[in-house]
Amino acid sequence: MAPSAVDAFNNDHQYGPVKIEQEINCISDHDFGRNDYVPNNAAKIAKEMIGAALQKHIKSVNPSECEAGEEDAFFVADIGEVYRQHMRWKKNLPRVTPHYAIKCNPDPVVLQLLATLGAGFDCASKAEIEQVLKIGVDPSRIIYAQPCKTKSYLRYTAKQNVRQMTFDNTDELYKVKELCPEAELYLRILTDDSASLCRLSNKFGASMENTQELLELAKELDLNIAGVAFHVGSGATDTAAFVKAVTDARDVFDRAKALGFAPHTLDVGGGFVSETFEETADVLNMALEAHMPSSIRIIAEPGRYYTSSAFTLACNVIARRTVEDRETGEKSYMLYLNDGVYGNFSSIIFDHQHPIPQILSTSRKQNNYNYDLSSSTESLTDSGYTSASEDTNSTDPSIGGKAITYSIWGPTCDGIDCISEQWKSAQTVDVGDWLYFEDMGAYTKCSATKFNGFTDKHETIYVSSEAGASAVLGF
Ligand SMILES: Cc1ncc(COP(=O)(O)O)c(C=O)c1O
Repeated sequence: MAPSAVDAFNNDHQYGPVKIEQEINCISDHDFGRNDYVPNNAAKIAKEMIGAALQKHIKSVNPSECEAGEEDAFFVADIGEVYRQHMRWKKNLPRVTPHYAIKCNPDPVVLQLLATLGAGFDCASKAEIEQVLKIGVDPSRIIYAQPCKTKSYLRYTAKQNVRQMTFDNTDELYKVKELCPEAELYLRILTDDSASLCRLSNKFGASMENTQELLELAKELDLNIAGVAFHVGSGATDTAAFVKAVTDARDVFDRAKALGFAPHTLDVGGGFVSETFEETADVLNMALEAHMPSSIRIIAEPGRYYTSSAFTLACNVIARRTVEDRETGEKSYMLYLNDGVYGNFSSIIFDHQHPIPQILSTSRKQNNYNYDLSSSTESLTDSGYTSASEDTNSTDPSIGGKAITYSIWGPTCDGIDCISEQWKSAQTVDVGDWLYFEDMGAYTKCSATKFNGFTDKHETIYVSSEAGASAVLGF
Protein backbone atom coordinates (compact mmCIF):
# COMPACT_ATOMS: atom_id res chain seq x y z
CA MET A 1 0.00 0.00 0.00
CA ALA A 2 1.20 3.45 -0.89
CA PRO A 3 1.50 6.62 1.18
CA SER A 4 -1.04 9.34 1.26
CA ALA A 5 -1.80 12.70 2.72
CA VAL A 6 -5.46 11.90 3.24
CA ASP A 7 -7.49 8.75 3.67
CA ALA A 8 -11.23 8.53 3.86
CA PHE A 9 -13.40 6.54 6.28
CA ASN A 10 -17.02 5.80 6.98
CA ASN A 11 -18.50 2.67 8.43
CA ASP A 12 -21.58 2.48 6.25
CA HIS A 13 -20.20 -0.02 3.76
CA GLN A 14 -22.13 -0.43 0.53
CA TYR A 15 -20.72 -2.05 -2.49
CA GLY A 16 -21.50 -2.96 -6.04
CA PRO A 17 -19.87 -3.05 -9.43
CA VAL A 18 -19.86 0.72 -9.85
CA LYS A 19 -20.24 1.89 -6.32
CA ILE A 20 -17.38 3.44 -4.41
CA GLU A 21 -17.02 3.02 -0.70
CA GLN A 22 -15.33 5.79 1.13
CA GLU A 23 -13.39 6.04 4.31
CA ILE A 24 -12.16 9.23 5.94
CA ASN A 25 -9.18 9.42 8.18
CA CYS A 26 -6.64 12.19 8.07
CA ILE A 27 -3.00 11.24 7.94
CA SER A 28 -0.33 13.84 7.58
CA ASP A 29 2.49 13.53 5.10
CA HIS A 30 5.17 13.14 7.76
CA ASP A 31 3.49 9.95 8.95
CA PHE A 32 5.30 8.34 6.05
CA GLY A 33 8.95 7.48 6.47
CA ARG A 34 10.93 7.61 3.24
CA ASN A 35 11.45 3.86 3.04
CA ASP A 36 8.52 2.90 5.20
CA TYR A 37 5.75 4.33 3.13
CA VAL A 38 2.94 2.18 4.53
CA PRO A 39 1.52 3.97 7.52
CA ASN A 40 -0.03 1.40 9.81
CA ASN A 41 -3.20 3.37 10.11
CA ALA A 42 -3.75 3.81 6.37
CA ALA A 43 -2.88 0.18 5.72
CA LYS A 44 -5.33 -0.93 8.38
CA ILE A 45 -8.13 1.24 7.07
CA ALA A 46 -7.68 0.13 3.47
CA LYS A 47 -7.49 -3.48 4.56
CA GLU A 48 -10.65 -3.15 6.63
CA MET A 49 -12.52 -1.67 3.69
CA ILE A 50 -11.37 -4.37 1.32
CA GLY A 51 -12.16 -7.03 3.91
CA ALA A 52 -15.64 -5.64 4.46
CA ALA A 53 -16.36 -5.64 0.72
CA LEU A 54 -15.06 -9.20 0.34
CA GLN A 55 -17.10 -10.37 3.28
CA LYS A 56 -20.26 -8.66 2.16
CA HIS A 57 -20.07 -10.26 -1.26
CA ILE A 58 -19.41 -13.79 -0.08
CA LYS A 59 -22.16 -13.53 2.47
CA SER A 60 -24.58 -12.73 -0.34
CA VAL A 61 -23.71 -15.97 -2.14
CA ASN A 62 -24.40 -19.48 -0.94
CA PRO A 63 -22.47 -21.86 -3.22
CA SER A 64 -24.70 -24.72 -2.05
CA GLU A 65 -27.80 -23.25 -3.62
CA CYS A 66 -26.84 -20.28 -5.85
CA GLU A 67 -27.45 -19.97 -9.59
CA ALA A 68 -24.61 -21.11 -11.85
CA GLY A 69 -21.81 -18.56 -11.75
CA GLU A 70 -23.03 -16.53 -8.80
CA GLU A 71 -20.11 -17.88 -6.79
CA ASP A 72 -17.62 -16.81 -9.49
CA ALA A 73 -14.32 -15.32 -8.44
CA PHE A 74 -14.45 -11.53 -8.03
CA PHE A 75 -12.14 -8.58 -7.47
CA VAL A 76 -12.22 -5.85 -4.89
CA ALA A 77 -10.38 -2.78 -6.18
CA ASP A 78 -9.28 -0.04 -3.81
CA ILE A 79 -9.28 2.92 -6.13
CA GLY A 80 -7.77 4.99 -3.30
CA GLU A 81 -4.59 2.95 -3.68
CA VAL A 82 -4.28 4.00 -7.34
CA TYR A 83 -4.76 7.61 -6.23
CA ARG A 84 -2.04 7.24 -3.59
CA GLN A 85 0.35 5.78 -6.17
CA HIS A 86 -0.27 8.79 -8.40
CA MET A 87 0.43 11.23 -5.56
CA ARG A 88 3.54 9.25 -4.69
CA TRP A 89 4.66 9.45 -8.33
CA LYS A 90 4.19 13.21 -8.43
CA LYS A 91 6.11 13.63 -5.20
CA ASN A 92 9.08 11.52 -6.23
CA LEU A 93 9.23 12.11 -10.00
CA PRO A 94 7.86 15.65 -10.39
CA ARG A 95 9.54 16.10 -13.75
CA VAL A 96 8.12 12.94 -15.30
CA THR A 97 4.55 12.84 -16.65
CA PRO A 98 3.17 9.30 -16.30
CA HIS A 99 1.39 7.80 -19.31
CA TYR A 100 -0.37 4.84 -17.72
CA ALA A 101 0.25 1.64 -19.74
CA ILE A 102 -3.31 0.45 -20.05
CA LYS A 103 -2.27 -3.03 -21.20
CA CYS A 104 -1.49 -3.71 -17.56
CA ASN A 105 -5.09 -3.29 -16.44
CA PRO A 106 -7.61 -1.40 -18.59
CA ASP A 107 -10.10 -1.11 -15.73
CA PRO A 108 -12.52 1.72 -16.64
CA VAL A 109 -12.56 3.28 -13.17
CA VAL A 110 -8.75 3.30 -13.00
CA LEU A 111 -8.63 4.99 -16.43
CA GLN A 112 -11.24 7.54 -15.42
CA LEU A 113 -9.37 8.39 -12.24
CA LEU A 114 -6.01 8.75 -13.96
CA ALA A 115 -7.51 10.73 -16.84
CA THR A 116 -9.04 13.17 -14.38
CA LEU A 117 -5.79 13.42 -12.44
CA GLY A 118 -4.03 14.51 -15.63
CA ALA A 119 -2.05 11.41 -16.52
CA GLY A 120 -1.37 10.49 -20.12
CA PHE A 121 -1.80 7.00 -21.57
CA ASP A 122 0.40 4.44 -23.28
CA CYS A 123 -1.72 2.43 -25.72
CA ALA A 124 -0.59 -0.56 -27.75
CA SER A 125 -3.54 -1.20 -30.06
CA LYS A 126 -6.56 0.36 -31.73
CA ALA A 127 -8.89 -0.90 -28.99
CA GLU A 128 -6.77 0.65 -26.25
CA ILE A 129 -6.60 3.98 -28.08
CA GLU A 130 -10.35 3.86 -28.61
CA GLN A 131 -11.03 3.13 -24.94
CA VAL A 132 -8.96 6.11 -23.82
CA LEU A 133 -10.40 8.50 -26.44
CA LYS A 134 -13.92 7.46 -25.45
CA ILE A 135 -13.46 8.78 -21.92
CA GLY A 136 -12.56 12.17 -23.33
CA VAL A 137 -8.77 12.10 -23.23
CA ASP A 138 -7.19 14.43 -25.78
CA PRO A 139 -5.19 12.57 -28.48
CA SER A 140 -2.12 14.60 -27.50
CA ARG A 141 -2.07 12.73 -24.15
CA ILE A 142 -1.74 9.35 -25.85
CA ILE A 143 1.42 7.63 -27.01
CA TYR A 144 1.02 4.67 -29.33
CA ALA A 145 3.96 2.86 -27.74
CA GLN A 146 4.16 -0.15 -30.01
CA PRO A 147 7.21 -0.11 -32.30
CA CYS A 148 5.65 -2.63 -34.71
CA LYS A 149 2.17 -1.42 -35.56
CA THR A 150 -0.71 -2.91 -37.54
CA LYS A 151 -1.28 -0.91 -40.75
CA SER A 152 -5.04 -0.50 -40.28
CA TYR A 153 -4.44 0.68 -36.70
CA LEU A 154 -2.01 3.29 -38.01
CA ARG A 155 -4.69 4.58 -40.40
CA TYR A 156 -7.09 4.77 -37.46
CA THR A 157 -4.46 6.55 -35.37
CA ALA A 158 -3.87 9.14 -38.08
CA LYS A 159 -7.62 9.78 -38.35
CA GLN A 160 -7.89 10.24 -34.59
CA ASN A 161 -4.95 12.65 -34.49
CA VAL A 162 -2.92 10.44 -32.20
CA ARG A 163 0.51 11.56 -33.27
CA GLN A 164 3.00 10.28 -30.71
CA MET A 165 4.31 6.83 -31.47
CA THR A 166 7.44 4.72 -31.11
CA PHE A 167 9.45 2.89 -33.78
CA ASP A 168 12.67 0.87 -33.81
CA ASN A 169 13.20 -0.33 -37.39
CA THR A 170 13.37 0.87 -41.00
CA ASP A 171 10.26 -0.96 -42.24
CA GLU A 172 8.21 0.87 -39.66
CA LEU A 173 9.48 4.20 -40.92
CA TYR A 174 8.26 3.44 -44.46
CA LYS A 175 4.92 2.36 -43.02
CA VAL A 176 4.60 5.58 -40.99
CA LYS A 177 5.57 7.66 -44.02
CA GLU A 178 2.78 6.04 -46.02
CA LEU A 179 0.01 6.07 -43.39
CA CYS A 180 0.77 8.68 -40.76
CA PRO A 181 3.42 11.11 -42.08
CA GLU A 182 2.57 13.70 -39.44
CA ALA A 183 3.61 11.34 -36.64
CA GLU A 184 5.79 12.53 -33.76
CA LEU A 185 8.24 9.68 -33.68
CA TYR A 186 10.13 8.34 -30.66
CA LEU A 187 13.08 6.14 -31.48
CA ARG A 188 12.93 3.25 -29.04
CA ILE A 189 16.39 2.11 -28.06
CA LEU A 190 17.56 -1.21 -26.71
CA THR A 191 18.20 -1.48 -22.98
CA ASP A 192 19.85 -3.92 -20.64
CA ASP A 193 16.74 -5.58 -19.22
CA SER A 194 18.53 -8.60 -17.75
CA ALA A 195 17.44 -7.74 -14.21
CA SER A 196 13.75 -7.46 -15.02
CA LEU A 197 10.84 -9.84 -14.43
CA CYS A 198 9.56 -9.70 -18.01
CA ARG A 199 12.21 -8.96 -20.59
CA LEU A 200 11.26 -6.87 -23.60
CA SER A 201 14.58 -6.15 -25.31
CA ASN A 202 14.56 -9.53 -27.03
CA LYS A 203 11.66 -8.19 -29.08
CA PHE A 204 11.95 -4.40 -29.23
CA GLY A 205 14.50 -1.64 -29.29
CA ALA A 206 17.10 -0.46 -31.81
CA SER A 207 20.70 -1.15 -30.87
CA MET A 208 22.86 1.94 -30.53
CA GLU A 209 24.75 0.93 -33.69
CA ASN A 210 21.52 1.06 -35.69
CA THR A 211 20.22 4.38 -34.42
CA GLN A 212 22.23 6.51 -36.85
CA GLU A 213 20.87 4.65 -39.87
CA LEU A 214 17.31 5.04 -38.53
CA LEU A 215 17.71 8.75 -37.92
CA GLU A 216 19.16 9.26 -41.40
CA LEU A 217 16.29 7.36 -43.01
CA ALA A 218 13.77 9.41 -41.03
CA LYS A 219 15.49 12.52 -42.36
CA GLU A 220 15.41 11.23 -45.92
CA LEU A 221 11.67 10.45 -45.56
CA ASP A 222 11.04 13.90 -44.09
CA LEU A 223 9.61 12.44 -40.90
CA ASN A 224 9.57 14.09 -37.49
CA ILE A 225 11.81 12.68 -34.73
CA ALA A 226 10.20 14.02 -31.56
CA GLY A 227 12.28 12.11 -29.08
CA VAL A 228 13.66 8.86 -27.73
CA ALA A 229 11.95 6.05 -25.80
CA PHE A 230 13.15 3.05 -23.85
CA HIS A 231 11.84 0.38 -21.51
CA VAL A 232 14.17 -1.36 -19.06
CA GLY A 233 11.88 -4.40 -18.77
CA SER A 234 8.75 -4.94 -16.71
CA GLY A 235 9.41 -5.43 -13.02
CA ALA A 236 12.88 -3.91 -13.25
CA THR A 237 15.19 -4.36 -10.28
CA ASP A 238 18.43 -2.78 -11.45
CA THR A 239 18.43 1.01 -11.30
CA ALA A 240 21.67 1.07 -13.30
CA ALA A 241 19.64 0.06 -16.36
CA PHE A 242 17.81 3.40 -16.17
CA VAL A 243 21.10 5.31 -15.94
CA LYS A 244 22.59 3.56 -18.96
CA ALA A 245 19.38 4.06 -20.95
CA VAL A 246 19.23 7.79 -20.16
CA THR A 247 22.90 8.14 -21.16
CA ASP A 248 22.28 6.32 -24.44
CA ALA A 249 19.17 8.41 -25.05
CA ARG A 250 21.24 11.57 -24.67
CA ASP A 251 23.59 10.30 -27.34
CA VAL A 252 20.66 9.74 -29.72
CA PHE A 253 19.26 13.20 -28.93
CA ASP A 254 22.60 14.75 -29.86
CA ARG A 255 22.84 12.85 -33.12
CA ALA A 256 19.23 13.67 -34.02
CA LYS A 257 19.96 17.34 -33.44
CA ALA A 258 23.06 17.13 -35.59
CA LEU A 259 20.85 15.90 -38.44
CA GLY A 260 18.56 18.91 -38.05
CA PHE A 261 15.77 17.36 -35.93
CA ALA A 262 14.44 19.12 -32.85
CA PRO A 263 13.75 16.25 -30.41
CA HIS A 264 11.91 17.50 -27.35
CA THR A 265 10.74 14.49 -25.31
CA LEU A 266 12.31 11.52 -23.56
CA ASP A 267 10.05 8.57 -22.74
CA VAL A 268 11.59 6.53 -19.90
CA GLY A 269 9.08 3.69 -20.30
CA GLY A 270 7.72 1.42 -17.56
CA GLY A 271 9.33 -1.10 -15.27
CA PHE A 272 8.67 0.77 -12.02
CA VAL A 273 7.97 -1.43 -9.01
CA SER A 274 6.21 -0.19 -5.91
CA GLU A 275 8.65 -1.81 -3.48
CA THR A 276 11.71 -0.03 -4.92
CA PHE A 277 10.03 3.05 -6.32
CA GLU A 278 11.74 5.75 -4.22
CA GLU A 279 15.17 4.28 -4.87
CA THR A 280 14.51 4.05 -8.62
CA ALA A 281 13.12 7.59 -8.67
CA ASP A 282 16.24 8.96 -6.95
CA VAL A 283 18.55 7.32 -9.47
CA LEU A 284 16.42 8.32 -12.44
CA ASN A 285 16.15 11.92 -11.24
CA MET A 286 19.92 12.15 -10.97
CA ALA A 287 20.42 10.69 -14.45
CA LEU A 288 17.87 13.10 -15.92
CA GLU A 289 19.49 16.01 -14.13
CA ALA A 290 22.88 15.03 -15.51
CA HIS A 291 21.90 14.27 -19.11
CA MET A 292 18.61 15.97 -19.98
CA PRO A 293 18.37 19.78 -19.94
CA SER A 294 15.20 21.14 -18.37
CA SER A 295 13.88 22.06 -21.83
CA ILE A 296 13.44 18.34 -22.53
CA ARG A 297 10.01 17.04 -21.56
CA ILE A 298 10.09 13.70 -19.75
CA ILE A 299 7.29 11.14 -19.90
CA ALA A 300 7.02 7.53 -18.67
CA GLU A 301 4.81 4.50 -19.26
CA PRO A 302 4.24 2.92 -15.83
CA GLY A 303 1.81 0.00 -15.64
CA ARG A 304 2.13 -2.39 -12.68
CA TYR A 305 3.30 0.38 -10.34
CA TYR A 306 -0.18 1.92 -10.49
CA THR A 307 -2.49 -1.07 -10.17
CA SER A 308 -0.75 -4.14 -8.78
CA SER A 309 -1.50 -3.56 -5.11
CA ALA A 310 -4.95 -2.05 -5.68
CA PHE A 311 -6.74 -5.26 -6.65
CA THR A 312 -7.59 -8.25 -4.45
CA LEU A 313 -9.09 -11.41 -5.94
CA ALA A 314 -11.43 -13.79 -4.07
CA CYS A 315 -12.03 -17.33 -5.33
CA ASN A 316 -14.35 -20.11 -4.26
CA VAL A 317 -13.15 -23.62 -3.49
CA ILE A 318 -15.19 -25.76 -5.86
CA ALA A 319 -13.62 -29.14 -5.10
CA ARG A 320 -11.09 -30.89 -2.88
CA ARG A 321 -9.21 -34.13 -3.29
CA THR A 322 -7.28 -36.10 -0.67
CA VAL A 323 -3.85 -37.38 -1.65
CA GLU A 324 -2.16 -40.03 0.45
CA ASP A 325 1.58 -40.68 0.34
CA ARG A 326 1.74 -44.47 0.10
CA GLU A 327 5.08 -44.67 1.90
CA THR A 328 4.54 -42.31 4.79
CA GLY A 329 0.76 -42.46 4.97
CA GLU A 330 0.75 -38.66 5.17
CA LYS A 331 -2.20 -36.90 3.66
CA SER A 332 -2.31 -33.65 1.74
CA TYR A 333 -5.11 -32.00 -0.17
CA MET A 334 -5.68 -30.65 -3.64
CA LEU A 335 -7.96 -27.61 -3.68
CA TYR A 336 -9.72 -26.66 -6.92
CA LEU A 337 -10.70 -22.99 -7.27
CA ASN A 338 -13.08 -21.40 -9.76
CA ASP A 339 -10.25 -19.29 -11.22
CA GLY A 340 -6.86 -20.36 -12.52
CA VAL A 341 -3.99 -19.72 -14.90
CA TYR A 342 -6.35 -19.54 -17.88
CA GLY A 343 -8.26 -16.87 -15.97
CA ASN A 344 -7.04 -14.14 -13.63
CA PHE A 345 -3.99 -16.15 -12.59
CA SER A 346 -2.64 -15.75 -16.13
CA SER A 347 -0.02 -13.63 -14.33
CA ILE A 348 1.61 -16.86 -13.15
CA ILE A 349 2.42 -17.82 -16.74
CA PHE A 350 2.81 -14.45 -18.44
CA ASP A 351 4.11 -12.31 -15.62
CA HIS A 352 6.13 -14.79 -13.54
CA GLN A 353 4.09 -14.09 -10.42
CA HIS A 354 3.55 -16.29 -7.37
CA PRO A 355 0.23 -15.21 -5.88
CA ILE A 356 -0.09 -15.99 -2.19
CA PRO A 357 -3.29 -17.67 -1.03
CA GLN A 358 -4.94 -16.48 2.16
CA ILE A 359 -8.09 -17.70 3.79
CA LEU A 360 -11.08 -15.41 3.44
CA SER A 361 -13.73 -17.63 4.92
CA THR A 362 -14.17 -21.23 5.92
CA SER A 363 -17.44 -22.92 6.72
CA ARG A 364 -16.03 -23.39 10.21
CA LYS A 365 -15.90 -19.65 10.63
CA GLN A 366 -19.25 -18.61 9.19
CA ASN A 367 -19.80 -15.84 11.70
CA ASN A 368 -16.27 -14.61 11.88
CA TYR A 369 -14.65 -13.99 8.52
CA ASN A 370 -10.99 -14.75 8.38
CA TYR A 371 -9.72 -11.88 6.22
CA ASP A 372 -6.25 -11.04 7.45
CA LEU A 373 -6.16 -13.63 10.17
CA SER A 374 -3.01 -15.15 8.78
CA SER A 375 -1.72 -16.11 12.22
CA SER A 376 -5.04 -17.54 13.36
CA THR A 377 -4.95 -20.96 14.98
CA GLU A 378 -8.38 -22.35 14.38
CA SER A 379 -9.63 -25.33 16.35
CA LEU A 380 -9.78 -28.00 13.72
CA THR A 381 -13.18 -29.57 14.07
CA ASP A 382 -14.94 -31.27 11.18
CA SER A 383 -17.52 -29.29 9.23
CA GLY A 384 -19.35 -32.11 7.54
CA TYR A 385 -16.87 -32.85 4.77
CA THR A 386 -14.27 -35.46 5.41
CA SER A 387 -11.99 -33.48 7.62
CA ALA A 388 -8.62 -32.46 6.25
CA SER A 389 -7.39 -31.54 9.68
CA GLU A 390 -7.60 -34.86 11.39
CA ASP A 391 -5.53 -36.52 8.67
CA THR A 392 -2.35 -34.57 9.16
CA ASN A 393 0.38 -34.63 11.73
CA SER A 394 2.92 -32.27 10.18
CA THR A 395 3.95 -29.14 11.99
CA ASP A 396 5.16 -25.87 10.57
CA PRO A 397 6.57 -23.29 13.00
CA SER A 398 6.01 -20.48 10.47
CA ILE A 399 2.25 -20.85 10.80
CA GLY A 400 2.25 -21.58 14.48
CA GLY A 401 1.70 -25.29 14.87
CA LYS A 402 -0.19 -27.98 13.08
CA ALA A 403 0.01 -27.54 9.31
CA ILE A 404 -2.15 -28.92 6.58
CA THR A 405 -0.49 -29.17 3.18
CA TYR A 406 -2.47 -28.14 0.12
CA SER A 407 -1.82 -27.67 -3.56
CA ILE A 408 -4.10 -25.21 -5.34
CA TRP A 409 -5.50 -25.67 -8.82
CA GLY A 410 -7.67 -23.84 -11.32
CA PRO A 411 -10.97 -25.13 -12.70
CA THR A 412 -9.89 -26.23 -16.20
CA CYS A 413 -8.98 -29.73 -17.32
CA ASP A 414 -5.36 -28.78 -18.00
CA GLY A 415 -2.55 -30.00 -15.72
CA ILE A 416 -0.64 -26.72 -16.04
CA ASP A 417 -3.57 -24.96 -14.39
CA CYS A 418 -1.82 -24.87 -11.01
CA ILE A 419 -1.89 -21.79 -8.79
CA SER A 420 0.33 -23.09 -6.01
CA GLU A 421 2.16 -26.40 -5.83
CA GLN A 422 2.43 -26.25 -2.09
CA TRP A 423 0.66 -24.13 0.46
CA LYS A 424 0.51 -24.80 4.17
CA SER A 425 -2.19 -23.61 6.48
CA ALA A 426 -3.21 -24.30 10.02
CA GLN A 427 -6.81 -24.11 8.90
CA THR A 428 -9.00 -26.68 7.25
CA VAL A 429 -10.29 -25.60 3.87
CA ASP A 430 -13.46 -27.24 2.63
CA VAL A 431 -15.51 -27.16 -0.56
CA GLY A 432 -17.48 -23.91 -0.59
CA ASP A 433 -14.84 -21.94 1.35
CA TRP A 434 -13.20 -18.80 -0.05
CA LEU A 435 -9.55 -17.86 -0.53
CA TYR A 436 -8.24 -14.44 -1.44
CA PHE A 437 -5.09 -13.18 -3.15
CA GLU A 438 -3.66 -9.67 -2.81
CA ASP A 439 -1.65 -7.72 -5.41
CA MET A 440 -3.70 -9.04 -8.30
CA GLY A 441 -4.08 -5.78 -10.24
CA ALA A 442 -1.37 -6.12 -12.89
CA TYR A 443 -1.44 -8.37 -15.94
CA THR A 444 -4.28 -10.53 -14.54
CA LYS A 445 -7.82 -9.93 -15.79
CA CYS A 446 -6.56 -8.39 -19.05
CA SER A 447 -4.94 -11.65 -20.13
CA ALA A 448 -7.65 -14.02 -18.86
CA THR A 449 -9.24 -16.41 -21.37
CA LYS A 450 -12.54 -18.28 -21.61
CA PHE A 451 -10.82 -21.66 -21.93
CA ASN A 452 -13.11 -24.56 -20.99
CA GLY A 453 -16.08 -22.21 -21.06
CA PHE A 454 -15.20 -20.31 -17.90
CA THR A 455 -15.90 -16.60 -17.79
CA ASP A 456 -13.27 -13.93 -18.34
CA LYS A 457 -15.61 -11.21 -17.07
CA HIS A 458 -15.22 -11.31 -13.33
CA GLU A 459 -16.97 -8.66 -11.35
CA THR A 460 -15.00 -5.85 -9.73
CA ILE A 461 -16.30 -4.24 -6.56
CA TYR A 462 -14.79 -0.80 -6.05
CA VAL A 463 -13.91 0.74 -2.72
CA SER A 464 -12.04 3.96 -2.06
CA SER A 465 -9.80 4.44 0.94
CA GLU A 466 -8.97 7.97 -0.26
CA ALA A 467 -11.29 10.93 -0.03
CA GLY A 468 -9.33 12.48 -2.91
CA ALA A 469 -10.11 9.57 -5.24
CA SER A 470 -13.78 9.60 -4.28
CA ALA A 471 -13.98 13.34 -4.90
CA VAL A 472 -12.22 13.11 -8.26
CA LEU A 473 -14.59 10.39 -9.44
CA GLY A 474 -17.65 12.17 -8.13
CA PHE A 475 -18.76 9.30 -5.89
C1 LIG B 1 5.99 -0.47 -24.27
C2 LIG B 1 5.60 -0.74 -22.88
N1 LIG B 1 5.38 0.30 -22.05
C3 LIG B 1 5.00 0.13 -20.76
C4 LIG B 1 4.81 -1.13 -20.23
C5 LIG B 1 4.40 -1.26 -18.80
O1 LIG B 1 5.41 -1.82 -18.05
P1 LIG B 1 5.30 -1.94 -16.48
O2 LIG B 1 4.00 -2.58 -16.17
O3 LIG B 1 6.46 -2.79 -16.10
O4 LIG B 1 5.41 -0.59 -15.91
C6 LIG B 1 5.05 -2.26 -21.05
C7 LIG B 1 4.89 -3.60 -20.52
O5 LIG B 1 5.07 -4.60 -21.16
C8 LIG B 1 5.44 -2.05 -22.40
O6 LIG B 1 5.66 -3.08 -23.22
